Amino acid sequence: MATVSKLEKRLLKEESRYCSQGDTVHYLKKPRLFAGCDGSFLYDYRGRPYLDLQMWYSTVNLGYKNRRVIDAVRDQIDRLPQLASQYLHREKIELAAAISRQMQRSFQAKGRVHFNVGGSQAIEDSIKLIRKATGKTLFFAFQGGYHGRTIAASEITSSYRYRRPYGHFSNRAQFIPFPYCFRCHYGRRFGSCKYYCVQQFERLFDTEYNSVLDTKTGECEFAAFYIEPIQGTGGYIVPPADYFRRIKKVLDHYGIYLVDDETQMGFYRTGRFWGLEHFGIKPDCLVFGKALTNGMNPLSGFWAREELVSPAAFPPGSTHSTFSSNPMGTGAGLEVMKLLQEKTLAARVNSSGRKFVAMLKKLQKKYKEIGDVSGLGLAIRLELCEKDGITPNGRLVDRIFQAGLEGNLEYKGKKYGLVLDVGGYYKNVFTLAPSFYISDEEIAMAGRFLDELLARFTRSKSRR
Ligand SMILES: Cc1ncc(COP(=O)(O)O)c(C=O)c1O
Repeated sequence: MATVSKLEKRLLKEESRYCSQGDTVHYLKKPRLFAGCDGSFLYDYRGRPYLDLQMWYSTVNLGYKNRRVIDAVRDQIDRLPQLASQYLHREKIELAAAISRQMQRSFQAKGRVHFNVGGSQAIEDSIKLIRKATGKTLFFAFQGGYHGRTIAASEITSSYRYRRPYGHFSNRAQFIPFPYCFRCHYGRRFGSCKYYCVQQFERLFDTEYNSVLDTKTGECEFAAFYIEPIQGTGGYIVPPADYFRRIKKVLDHYGIYLVDDETQMGFYRTGRFWGLEHFGIKPDCLVFGKALTNGMNPLSGFWAREELVSPAAFPPGSTHSTFSSNPMGTGAGLEVMKLLQEKTLAARVNSSGRKFVAMLKKLQKKYKEIGDVSGLGLAIRLELCEKDGITPNGRLVDRIFQAGLEGNLEYKGKKYGLVLDVGGYYKNVFTLAPSFYISDEEIAMAGRFLDELLARFTRSKSRR
């Protein structure tokens, strides 16, 4: 143990001296080092397990060190680990075909797949695609939306804090309120609101003085609306069932494309292959990343309708990145796609999601501070508030988050840690994205740990 402490001390000292802290978030007061991972758990240098309820922001959906994906990667190392993207290889072509066929099944839509290495880069590529198709540069996006932190992705990402130090963003999106019904932007209640938010969006097109449309010619200045079907970083917010159908009607009327960012919700996180499948509309372009390789090698991309992405419309070299269709990524991605086609997976995600939400609802009865619990598949939100059940309580979330990572929780006589992720407009939401293979016992364990931490940091436990 003394050697472990020494190693950790040395690493943390070197980190603070040599690592840019600008390349990642540093939310933890005491930074944590991890040495191993398996299934639903991360392990520290002492071998202590940490139950992970966020799985690298919904990247490692199939569990850490998933045997089948690891074997596919090993096999790829032995056969063709390296190849410049200008040459073709089997896995790239088969992966593009598998995603295109999935799009046909999900949306009855024909198109092509375009690769890159990260979510933000794929967003950037999709921006080029839409700019090329329309000759326009302006987009709608959602308040609370997150599409990455490269320069162009930042233009459509809502957080002002992420843009503020970097000067003027001339194509900053027009941000529209997301249907966050627990805290409706317009103070309405779902059920009696008659989709007031959609009516407000429609009103933008009423007169040229709303600065969106030339009502004389019908020319709209906006090229596309970038959406997340379920808002990820914004706090795993699920819109009402008819919301997107109503928005799409407006977009179709004015010839505005819909770009569906599935970087966080794609690949069954919500119990359907793509999050947008819950809402009965089709995208013009769909962006994916993260879970495609289960976190094994960076690979991302977009799918777009044939007329937007055919070689005539978007010719060779429209985008290029050295690693864009790297074979280690395509090999892993192809195996993930095979695993996802297995019939029992969606049922498993939905049934574990229901059990997880039921466990949280039980806690909600016990703690007034739990304002909202909801979820779709295994994308689950736990919104913490003051005792009034509505005022955001980011402080409580932060204390639970930090304490979980101290690794002092007990289950059946053994010490554990808990890995959570914090999101939401007020940083008061746990965005829970457990492994698709989370077991019933691990759900019970999650309940025990959350109960213990809530009890520790709230005083009154009774709801009535
Ligand atoms: C919806 C969404 N889009 C884009 C991104 C950016 O992806 P990356 O971090 O791989 O650049 C993220 C990352 O969290 C995301 O959640």
